[in-house]
Amino acid sequence: MKYYLTTPIYYTNGTPHIGHTYCTMVADLVRRYKRMRGYDAVLTTGTDEHGVNVERAARNQGKAPQEFCDILAAEWRKQWDRLGIQYDHFVRTSDPAHHRTVQWLFERCRANGYIYPGKYTGQYCVFCNLYVNEAKPGDPCPDCGRPTETVTEENYFFKLSAFRDRLLELYAAQPDFIQPETRRNEVLAFVQGDLKDLSITRTTIEWGIPAPVEGKHVIYVWFDALIAYLTAVREQTINGEPVWPADVHLIGKEIIRFHAVYWPAFLMAADLPLPKKIFAHGWLLFEQDKMSKSRGNVVRPDPIRRVVGADALRYFLLREVVFGNDGSFSYDALIARYNAELANGLGNLASRTLNMLQQYRGGAIPAAAGDPAIAQQAGKVIRAYFAHFDEFGFSRGLDALWGLLSEVDRYIVKKAPWKLARAEGDEARRDLEETLYTSAEVLRIATALLAPVLPESAPKIWEQLGMPGEVTAVRLDDLRWGQLAAGQKIGVIAGVFPRVDAKEAVPRMLELEAEVVAEQNRLLGKAAPPPGALNPPLAPEITIDDFAKVDLRVGVVVSAERVKGSDKLLHLKVDIGEAQPRTIVAGIAEAYSPEAMLNRKVVIVANLQPRKLRGITSSGMIVAASVEGGPPVVAGFHEEIAPGARLK
Ligand code: ME8
Ligand code: MG
Repeated sequence: MKYYLTTPIYYTNGTPHIGHTYCTMVADLVRRYKRMRGYDAVLTTGTDEHGVNVERAARNQGKAPQEFCDILAAEWRKQWDRLGIQYDHFVRTSDPAHHRTVQWLFERCRANGYIYPGKYTGQYCVFCNLYVNEAKPGDPCPDCGRPTETVTEENYFFKLSAFRDRLLELYAAQPDFIQPETRRNEVLAFVQGDLKDLSITRTTIEWGIPAPVEGKHVIYVWFDALIAYLTAVREQTINGEPVWPADVHLIGKEIIRFHAVYWPAFLMAADLPLPKKIFAHGWLLFEQDKMSKSRGNVVRPDPIRRVVGADALRYFLLREVVFGNDGSFSYDALIARYNAELANGLGNLASRTLNMLQQYRGGAIPAAAGDPAIAQQAGKVIRAYFAHFDEFGFSRGLDALWGLLSEVDRYIVKKAPWKLARAEGDEARRDLEETLYTSAEVLRIATALLAPVLPESAPKIWEQLGMPGEVTAVRLDDLRWGQLAAGQKIGVIAGVFPRVDAKEAVPRMLELEAEVVAEQNRLLGKAAPPPGALNPPLAPEITIDDFAKVDLRVGVVVSAERVKGSDKLLHLKVDIGEAQPRTIVAGIAEAYSPEAMLNRKVVIVANLQPRKLRGITSSGMIVAASVEGGPPVVAGFHEEIAPGARLK
């Protein structure tokens, strides 16, 4: 049976951080898990390349959008490959096949009467590619908090309002269509309210899919992006069964509305089968804040992979965060879990078991039935693990499994095989063999169960146990207790999760983080902007009245000295024709000595709110220009001009 799942397709205005990695790792886990359970699991991921945001990012780098996206899409794939993520389809929205699918869907919806031309005036957030229906001019975007822009244009609309009842029926008939429950309630409240039609084309952008209509309409980003899930498998069947519809779309909670409302409505309008489930995970917070590319407080996966391995990151995220809830990431917590649960818990069970087999039985699995109580508990844990994983309850499933590992640990300590090995007689020998068999059998079962969670390490443990075949080929039946074959020779023992010292590992990861960021900046290339493009781009338009609010005056620097304890600041006194010269603290000390500033004519912002810097109240600001990363250059005059003259 097929099982089709997807991750969001990620914006190519940056490179992956561990928030994106989280969702993609879970998707890879589910794909592997479903395969273990006998499904033909298919995973689609990809990149969302159109829209104003990406176009801006490209132009800022002096690149054409397509070229920029080619570089970034390759980088996303490279990062996923490095992390051992296996996917079946990688859809880029700039692919011609995707363009065709979007245009086809647009035409179907239009033929069915659900797309119509109209005029739109409203607030739009360019960063979220979102019309904010309820916003007034000047209101911030509800998602990102940035100011919205007022736009008026001829658009094509999707008749979302026509689907209100059918959507509500869908949610009622399939109570688990939206998970978790909190997200379902949120969506219900939204749809029960007033569903407005959606503007799905724009005439003001270039970088996008042309709508199959007269005129210069480009399809607006959500009618484009969501369809990527369909593009990937539109023609694909497995044993005669079409892969579409999706069994689950895995997404972050901020895009639930698009997936649980718009997407089923688009599909209904085109008479296509609906996805079976939308599962929205929570946010990973870093230092109490949502990680985001635009805020720059991101943690990247590659430094973590290089220091503790991709499996450790995956394990941490799955165990630490209840899937569906928000969770926190910290390097310290990562290392703590790694040491306690992977190095000590699983790693220790593996090395103990294998070394005892080597030492006491020449590396051969003894013939024994194993401890009945543990055998029984193992059966329970397997069932619980599957039940939890089927419901995306990964942390609980892992909890149950680690309970079994602790149980075996206690059992080994109680049995003390190291004493049994020195004791005489048949009973001690049998007891030793039961003990070794029990711990080896638990190790075998745990390793098989963990293959989707620890795709790099599970095969290593499997090989060390001397298991024939691939751990990834294990099926349900193979997990029954007692299938570890007597006489099987173990492989070469090698530690799987060596302990790490947080005092070394954390600084190392931070150091690598800086390297990765530098590398990715290089990759994007800081090429000169193309002729005619400003860098940074122009600020939003203002009126003459806005400008008049800024009081710029000519000043003469009458004294200048360094601010003690600062390399950057100069303490200046500037005469602008007032009774007393102004005190101004300026961040120009790296470019100008106090002597160089003395008697210079400068431009100051004279009505700026005073601000305390290093205990000195600065009343105004010196105007200076700089290119990104370059030194400040102070503005001045060629001709004579009296202090206090106003600039206008
Ligand atoms: O929204 N914590 O793409 P995107 C957890 N292109 N997950 C996070 C996260 C965080 N701090 N930050 C990002 C888009 N994510 C659209 C999607 S789908 C048809 C179009 C994850 O690049 C999370 O899964 O902003 C979120 O939904 C996704 O990345 C958004 O990635
Ligand atoms: Mg986002």
